[in-house]
Amino acid sequence: MTPASAGDIELHDLRDQQFLDEVHSFQFWFDSVEGYLTDRPYGRDADVAVPVLEPELADRLVTTLCNYCLGETAALDGASSLVHDAPTRNAKIFLATQVADEARHLEVFRYRLGELGIADPEAEIERRGNQALVEFRGELLDMIAAGDWPAAVFAQNVVLETLEYTVFRFHADNADEVTRQMLRGVVADERRHSGFGENHLGRWLATEPSGRQRLQAVRQRLDPLVAAIFSGALDDIGFAPADRPPLARDYVEAIDRLGLTA
Ligand SMILES: [Fe+2]
Ligand SMILES: [Fe+2]
Repeated sequence: MTPASAGDIELHDLRDQQFLDEVHSFQFWFDSVEGYLTDRPYGRDADVAVPVLEPELADRLVTTLCNYCLGETAALDGASSLVHDAPTRNAKIFLATQVADEARHLEVFRYRLGELGIADPEAEIERRGNQALVEFRGELLDMIAAGDWPAAVFAQNVVLETLEYTVFRFHADNADEVTRQMLRGVVADERRHSGFGENHLGRWLATEPSGRQRLQAVRQRLDPLVAAIFSGALDDIGFAPADRPPLARDYVEAIDRLGLTA
């Protein structure tokens, strides 16, 4: 086997840097969102009819959307704060695209609440919010305030994002047409956000000997909240216990890929 020369290593690093600059750019973001953001007012086709839902179904959807708004607000607050703390310029640029995504998600969910007759979404979110999600947001903001960048990226871009795209994806398969279209666009964004988290932390873990232990401790602290958020989301969407999809699978697989299974 030929040992790598300094030249090979530099070339490898350069390619790595070019790849990261490309996938964390606004240009990449523009190309990614073109198919489902442009010309789609509030996240759905302009000509799709807004369905009239049965009162009980509409009420459950309101609770679900209120909790989606809570999750999106946590991600918006988290991503906007993390722009400042990000250790590289391409990570700052990526997080700036994420801020735009999360604000858009919040906007489309709030708009849908308006269509369902909710005149004061702030009060409704306060009233119907899952306490576990409120606590999760508090944990995330505490990590950011403490300057713990890896823990905050893990909580936000791995745990919260995996949780969101998993719930949104299953909900989309069981939703009315307007909600379904809206969620499919959001899911595509959330996958991009979790991809950043896994990629970034995978690199960090490869160079930080105590990193795995640190993130395992964060994971163990967040696990009960994740379980309560999953369970609350399934109740709101209306999955009977026997029909519940294995929502935890994506989360467990993401944790496994990072080598954080206890
Ligand atoms: Fe989001
Ligand atoms: Fe997200």
